[in-house]
Amino acid sequence: MRDSFLSKRMENLKPSGIRKFFDIVATMKDVISLGIGEPDFTTPRPIIDAGVHSLNHGETHYTSNAGILEVRKAIADHLQKLYGVGYDPVSEILLTVGVSEALYLVMNALLDPGDEVIIPTPCFVAYQAEVMLAGGVPVEVAGRMEENFDLNITALKAAITPRTKMIFIGYPSNPTGAVASRQTLLEVAKIAEQHDLIVVSDEIYDRLVYGFEHVCFASLPNMRQRTVTLGGFSKAYAMTGWRIGYVCAPEEILKGLTRIHQYTIMSAPTTAQYAALEALKSGEDYVKEMVAEYDRRRRLIVDGLNHIGLPTFEPRGAFYAFPKVSVTGLDDETFANRLLQEEKVAIVPGNAFGAGGEGFARCCYATAYNQIEEALVRIERFARRLD
Ligand SMILES: Cc1ncc(COP(=O)(O)O)c(C=O)c1O
Repeated sequence: MRDSFLSKRMENLKPSGIRKFFDIVATMKDVISLGIGEPDFTTPRPIIDAGVHSLNHGETHYTSNAGILEVRKAIADHLQKLYGVGYDPVSEILLTVGVSEALYLVMNALLDPGDEVIIPTPCFVAYQAEVMLAGGVPVEVAGRMEENFDLNITALKAAITPRTKMIFIGYPSNPTGAVASRQTLLEVAKIAEQHDLIVVSDEIYDRLVYGFEHVCFASLPNMRQRTVTLGGFSKAYAMTGWRIGYVCAPEEILKGLTRIHQYTIMSAPTTAQYAALEALKSGEDYVKEMVAEYDRRRRLIVDGLNHIGLPTFEPRGAFYAFPKVSVTGLDDETFANRLLQEEKVAIVPGNAFGAGGEGFARCCYATAYNQIEEALVRIERFARRLD
């Protein structure tokens, strides 16, 4: 018998720091979870109804590989209206099983073994993993709280080598809440052009900004032809369980992604495609309501954590606060573990999110207001014991 049937690639693929932690949470009672990054809201009623309606009308089959054309058209209109970016719904938009699938597709369609991908961190846990699964090499460029977790352009330039193929950005950021400014993104655009790089931009949190502008990277001058835009419904429309997202890219690139999608997925869930169409048609008021509520919770948690003495950057987008827990003298892993065991509050150690995350912890505030209030009471009690 072999030592293992798993491929060599798997040896470098660590389990997600988030899941590992939440396997423990699942075995405990009365835990307040500020852990998993998903809205506590149920999907808005008209969107659910549209999904159910499609099932009741026999829409229980595969769709075309790229997805229902009407949905792709609605996405094209949406992006045109919001950001002035024009994508052809027939040849430049693909519906996917969430941004998660889209990440898999871009890495596998665009990377050759050894290609380097520059990733500003702290970042969503899947980015580095997907690069490695595709045989690429993630090169992390750490942001700093003192600089609002902004993308560090000097470090980005220094990270470029002859093997660099892609810059992968994700703003608004999970886990820091940073929103990249137009100025910063124009710098990225300049670098991409100078070094002939492709930019993949995960814009899943584009609608969740609090008084700050979200800039769609593809809308910047000359960037459309070297950008892959990833977007989704999970966060803005509270649709995590439906598993629906999309990729927009120039035709030649999209063809490559679609070829992998064709063999691995066939088509995104049909029910979810109908629901997504409704989200684009009638979801706007719900998005605004949810964003207003996240904003209220954001202010509660940021003020609360800072008051407790855990320095916290004021997030500008997404729904995460990222306090510096190392000021207590504990490392992030120990802080999160002890907080969970002693006070039953689940947060995620910052080291799960790559370089620059050590010493911090991610607290998701897409949780009921009163739960956040109670979590803050418990965190304060825990922090006082450490004083
Ligand atoms: C930055 C980011 N990208 C992508 C995803 C995956 O989203 P989806 O539900 O569309 O697969 C997440 C989920 O947490 C995320 O935070």
